[in-house]
Amino acid sequence: MVRKTRETFGSRTGMLLAMAGSAIGLGNIWRFPYTLGKNGGAAFLLIYVIMLLVICLPVMISEYLIGRRGGSNPFRTFDRLAPGSKWRWMGFIAVLASACILSFYCVVGGWSVKYLDDVCSGRLMGYEGDYAQFFGSFISSPWKPLVYTMLFLGMTGLIIAFGVRKGIERMSKIMISVLFVIIVLVVIRSLSLPGAIEGVRYMFVPDFSKVTADTCIAAMGQAFFSLSIGCGTILTYASYVHKDENIAASSAWIAIFDTAFAVIAALAIIPAVYAIALMNGVDPDVSAGPGLVFITLPGVFQSMPLGGLAAVLFFLALLLAAITSAISLMEVVVAFIIEELHRSRMHAVLLSFLLCGVVGVFCSLSFGPLDGFTLFGLSVFDFFDYITSNIMLPIGGLLLAVFAGWKLKRANYLDELTNGGTLKLPHWLALSIYYLVKLVAPLAISLIFLNCILS
Ligand code: TRP
Repeated sequence: MVRKTRETFGSRTGMLLAMAGSAIGLGNIWRFPYTLGKNGGAAFLLIYVIMLLVICLPVMISEYLIGRRGGSNPFRTFDRLAPGSKWRWMGFIAVLASACILSFYCVVGGWSVKYLDDVCSGRLMGYEGDYAQFFGSFISSPWKPLVYTMLFLGMTGLIIAFGVRKGIERMSKIMISVLFVIIVLVVIRSLSLPGAIEGVRYMFVPDFSKVTADTCIAAMGQAFFSLSIGCGTILTYASYVHKDENIAASSAWIAIFDTAFAVIAALAIIPAVYAIALMNGVDPDVSAGPGLVFITLPGVFQSMPLGGLAAVLFFLALLLAAITSAISLMEVVVAFIIEELHRSRMHAVLLSFLLCGVVGVFCSLSFGPLDGFTLFGLSVFDFFDYITSNIMLPIGGLLLAVFAGWKLKRANYLDELTNGGTLKLPHWLALSIYYLVKLVAPLAISLIFLNCILS
């Protein structure tokens, strides 16, 4: 029997856009602006960037490097790089964590499908009541959100069924390009509103009085979540990357795209919220949490000239961003099923759809019929969100850093980073990345955890 060779990305641009597609998602458009709003604006942004440079970028480079060297799904990759050790179970947990993230991610993805549907049909902009109630009655309905969640998950599965090049790479390329154009249009609309400058000031003039230990853990969790690191996504995509790719440069580019996009998305939202609040003579409230995009924003679009068009573009952007990230999460599970359980891609997609769909139903119902049911005091949805972003991803990142820094040999790490010495990466830079991963990142992550537990 001839062994089928593994798929790879077709081009460098395709690979970069697929990875950027994974990174840019609900994390940037939905989660980043409200986390920024809740944690005091500019001061949070500053801490976020520091976390990104000191902890997340080095961890990302390592996850990328481990993935390309291992050339397989997380479970097998760790087994290949450290044969017979327990590390492969860490790979297995990464696959489970991806499934958990996808399970609540697809619920919010479903909301974006619903809002796009409503805004296109005029139901959203024509609504005369209170948007909190509009949103509340939708998410607490026993069946409506489930339909949209399954629709979202189904679209994700369909793209993946076409494979790495024809599905993931092609769709990411198209969607991310369209996404950039759309969001820039929305930013122009938002910034041209009178009073928008107040919102810009809020985003860029820091107020350190709001910074606490929780701010640091929120910034770290957000950075891990937004870059898609810590649970095997980058690792899996990296296993489809050519051996001559410059790992450090690609990672840096992805981090730059992702951060720029988060700031752009916040610029599309926060200044508009300020401008409309000033116009209506009320206090701007950007600390509303997860409802910022689904409750506050529709009201803002309703009050602005050309708001209907801006709303269509905005919710389309939200959906495109969500899908390109969801495919990267599902691909981790799919690659594992194909390679370890020896199923066809189609079969693997169906299995992942079922697995995440079932957990997704519970996450979705936690806003309605399962409202009173809690795990450790959190609703099912919040439990998955909190546990994965703030705990599993940083611990995943910590373990990745420990693996790269202490289990892989230094020579092997540097060899992979410089593609066997063929890349002209300055030696000091390669060494700095190595020591950031070996010493600084694990220490910093541990300290932030400790600080949070003790405070
Ligand atoms: N980064 C994506 C976002 O910002 C979500 C995502 C995709 C993700 N893959 C991941 C988050 C892996 C954590 C881990 O929306």
